Amino acid sequence: MFDDIVGQLAAHFELTLEREVRSYSSDELAERLAPLDGALVTLNERIGAAEIGSAGNLRAIANVGVGYNNLDLEALSAAGIVATNTPDVLTETTADFGFALLMATARRITEAEAFVREGRWRAWSFTTLLGADLHGSTLGILGLGRIGRAIARRARGFGMRVVYHNRSRLTPALEAELGASWLGFDDLLSASDHLVLVLPYTPASHHLIDARALARMKPTATLVNIARGGIVDELALADALAHGRLAGAGLDVFEGEPRVRPELLALKNLVLTPHIGSASLATRRAMVQLAVDNLIAAMGVGPNAGHPPSILNADALKAAGTGAAVAGAKNTTASKR
Ligand code: DGY
Repeated sequence: MFDDIVGQLAAHFELTLEREVRSYSSDELAERLAPLDGALVTLNERIGAAEIGSAGNLRAIANVGVGYNNLDLEALSAAGIVATNTPDVLTETTADFGFALLMATARRITEAEAFVREGRWRAWSFTTLLGADLHGSTLGILGLGRIGRAIARRARGFGMRVVYHNRSRLTPALEAELGASWLGFDDLLSASDHLVLVLPYTPASHHLIDARALARMKPTATLVNIARGGIVDELALADALAHGRLAGAGLDVFEGEPRVRPELLALKNLVLTPHIGSASLATRRAMVQLAVDNLIAAMGVGPNAGHPPSILNADALKAAGTGAAVAGAKNTTASKR
């Protein structure tokens, strides 16, 4: 992360830093969490009952990321462990990226770059790398939350018609402000020239975009996923792209990331990026800062003691009493200064 921001924790706590960026096994995580009072983690760390089982002093987990499908909130709440995430600070950056991936996919930018780099450009031709327009097209947004709305605002500037599907509809006033119309799930699939996935990953959204859903889309359509890989059945997507049942796709997230299926890597009409939706320097710094602020507050110290700015399970905080009381009660734990 960023040493100057993470270092702020040292004013309150004794720090243990894991500098190696890799996937830690469940046992390794359990071993590392065991002596801690609080932890700052990323989406690489899956934390549930098994990982916190030996962490008797653990009171807070601050996730650096807005998506928190890596955390088992039920298990954390049951153990009285506060969980936090980093919403808002990454909204605009991620929406910018969603648009970049959409444009790259529709206009075949990465394929075109490879065409030039590989020396295949012999003469200007009228029909080289024809793509799809954004202006005048219909953009479908699956999940009109914060990031989805920021994408809808951008789409208006591009002269797109915006349709969306959420389980619950926005208010008419918000729909009018965004210029977005609600459609049922199947209608969204068949109406979209470009479909962007921005919904949370839950058991209900696992493989929501499967062979059946893809078959409802126009063969000229493009699909962009900036949410979580598990929302898309990747083999069904690869098959649709390979057989011309879908024109193109842009994926920033993958079900088994960082591993990408060979069936996907083989496709030319697929733009691939390594989960960088929120990766601008300013935004990644803001995310770490918010996570650090959350952790300090969740541990019951600092200016927001007991009131982490973005708490996911307020029930855990209540179960443990107020933050200040928690800090007082646990002042003697090994890693608390
Ligand atoms: C998130 O915040 O959930 C992103 O996927 C990682 O930045």
